[in-house]
Amino acid sequence: MSSSIHQPPRDGSAQEQANAIPANPNDAGISDEGIPRPPRHELKSVVPYLLNNSPEFRRLIVAKKTVSSHPNPHISPSHLVLCIKMQDQCSHHTTDQDWRVPATPTSTSGPVPANSAEDPTLKLHRTMRAVGRELERCTNAFKLNPALIDENKNNSVPPTILNLCMAPGAFLELAMRQNPTAEVVAFTLPVSQGGYGSVVSPAHPKVNLKFLDITMLAADIGIEDEEIPSDHVDANNFLPRELDEDQLFDLVICDGLVAKNQPRAEYRAHREKRRLLAAQLVLGLSHVKCGGTFIIRLYRLEAWTTVNIVRAFCQFAATLRLYKPKSGNARSGAFYLVAQDIDIDDDVALDVIEEWRWAWQVGTFGTDEEYEKMAREEGPEVDELLEEFGETLVALGERIWTTQAEALD
Ligand SMILES: C[S@@+](CC[C@H](N)C(=O)[O-])C[C@H]1O[C@@H](n2cnc3c(N)ncnc32)[C@H](O)[C@@H]1O
Repeated sequence: MSSSIHQPPRDGSAQEQANAIPANPNDAGISDEGIPRPPRHELKSVVPYLLNNSPEFRRLIVAKKTVSSHPNPHISPSHLVLCIKMQDQCSHHTTDQDWRVPATPTSTSGPVPANSAEDPTLKLHRTMRAVGRELERCTNAFKLNPALIDENKNNSVPPTILNLCMAPGAFLELAMRQNPTAEVVAFTLPVSQGGYGSVVSPAHPKVNLKFLDITMLAADIGIEDEEIPSDHVDANNFLPRELDEDQLFDLVICDGLVAKNQPRAEYRAHREKRRLLAAQLVLGLSHVKCGGTFIIRLYRLEAWTTVNIVRAFCQFAATLRLYKPKSGNARSGAFYLVAQDIDIDDDVALDVIEEWRWAWQVGTFGTDEEYEKMAREEGPEVDELLEEFGETLVALGERIWTTQAEALD
């Protein structure tokens, strides 16, 4: 693959662009934000189908458009109603504010000082604790599969947890409370790179906590040294292997949120969401046990990328729950996928790992053209997906879209 790196021509991922397309197919190829976008026919979207089939999704779109602080003053409510009547593709991308509080980059990467009441880490910790408790109460997310608990006991081994993007560590605290004998491996972005401190001590005897950027774990992602172009701007920054190939975990928690203040090479500027998602999916799925639990934060169930991920998990998890906590910032499009009793040997699961390894490679080494092509060609044809998965998607989305719409109302 070519190693040339260019400035990406537009802001946001291809999927964000897909959802910024206005109702009128003849509109010029410039979005409301003044961003050039590819021709409409090149992008895939389930939005028209959802407008047609989900009252909850329609309600969300209305709520988004009528939020008084909406960044786009050019779309009037009447225009919106027209869009919906036309059952056309009028989903507009709203920025996910998430549960972010500004990080304060410092040179430390250790635990948080006890007296720093206003520390951003502690603020985020409070929020994440509320989010985590709700997630736990409503989905049993942090409870291990009883069959795996028995298997561990029979083999006299402790339960194991892998936590990617762990800080401040509220979810990990809850998971460790549920599973007090568990041994943990956790990775999270160093504070010096715009990450958060950890409330869980790196000296905890059961926790192997490393402050590192998981998107740079090339070896763990399955990239051979020879595959890294020697003239790549980050050629010397990729990290050596952290996890043994056969190291497996009963519970994998992925809660990454791209850091605003991380100093990054230019090529990452507009590809980081996808790179972070790719790193979490590849690392997490490569190391979850058969029968294990996988939790991941996703964005905007209506986005093509998200739909494809959820559809895949439906095929290899015995139980799948999508849950959007009311705690934290419920106005954002973020929600959690909780997949229990995973059959990681299923072909679909193996395909997901391969697809997202490829996404990481293209997002890291590819040209803009290669990157855009990958995003454009993602997944099957829209009709094919909807025929098989449309009704399930509508059912899965009901509560998520309602929770978000209520928060926006
Ligand atoms: C929403 S917070 C996670 C909260 C956590 N689940 C909890 O319960 O406290 C998102 C985390 O992802 C981390 N993060 C973002 N990019 C990362 C990267 N490339 N590698 C590792 N961690 C990353 C952020 O620094 C932050 O700590």
